[in-house]
Amino acid sequence: MELRYLGHSAFALTDGGTTVLVDPFLTGNPRAAASADELEATTILLTHGHGDHLGDTVAIAKRTGATVVAIVELANEIGGQGVDVRDPNLGGTETFDWGSVKLVPAWHTAVSPSGTAHTPAGLLIELAGTTIYHVGDTCLFSDLQLVGRGREIDVALVPIGGHYTMDRHDAVDAVRLIGAKTVVPIHYDTFPPIETDAQAFKADVEAQTSSSVVVLAPGESWSP
Ligand code: NI
Ligand code: MN
Repeated sequence: MELRYLGHSAFALTDGGTTVLVDPFLTGNPRAAASADELEATTILLTHGHGDHLGDTVAIAKRTGATVVAIVELANEIGGQGVDVRDPNLGGTETFDWGSVKLVPAWHTAVSPSGTAHTPAGLLIELAGTTIYHVGDTCLFSDLQLVGRGREIDVALVPIGGHYTMDRHDAVDAVRLIGAKTVVPIHYDTFPPIETDAQAFKADVEAQTSSSVVVLAPGESWSP
């Protein structure tokens, strides 16, 4: 299983012929590692519908035939554009032949670019025996510690940019609550308000928690 960072909060998770895209914001992303028309997709998972997460979802889904998973209000909007959707709410798990995704809470706001209000989510993804927790856009909150209970989270994708999400200091406490083996920082350096020091975050996490940090530049891949 390979995890390719596409920049901001976007990833391509691949295993054999399966490609799961998460939050594919490429067009308009100054640090995008790929263009929307070159990506394959089996399934597209969305944390929420802000423009920097919804991104190129509809165009990619229409071209590839990928199913989109999003919280129900957002899924209804996307499904109305002729795309196959799954529409769970928080706590729901969607199962596919490649694995599964569960929607878990995130503390944030969200209205889609078309005006659909909805609640943001984190994504607990099982793919090829690997558990990946995409934390989405959130501040620090204590229920982060509930997400991984009873299982081991192999990798957590954690926002550190501040301003729109928790900053790199609160993210150290979030990492301690989440308890993942490995953490990849996301949602930073894309725009001036969210510039931060990912190497300082790595040093703090590795000094203060039992997790290790892998800093990926947009375009880099890593296998858990
Ligand atoms: Ni957002
Ligand atoms: Mn965002």
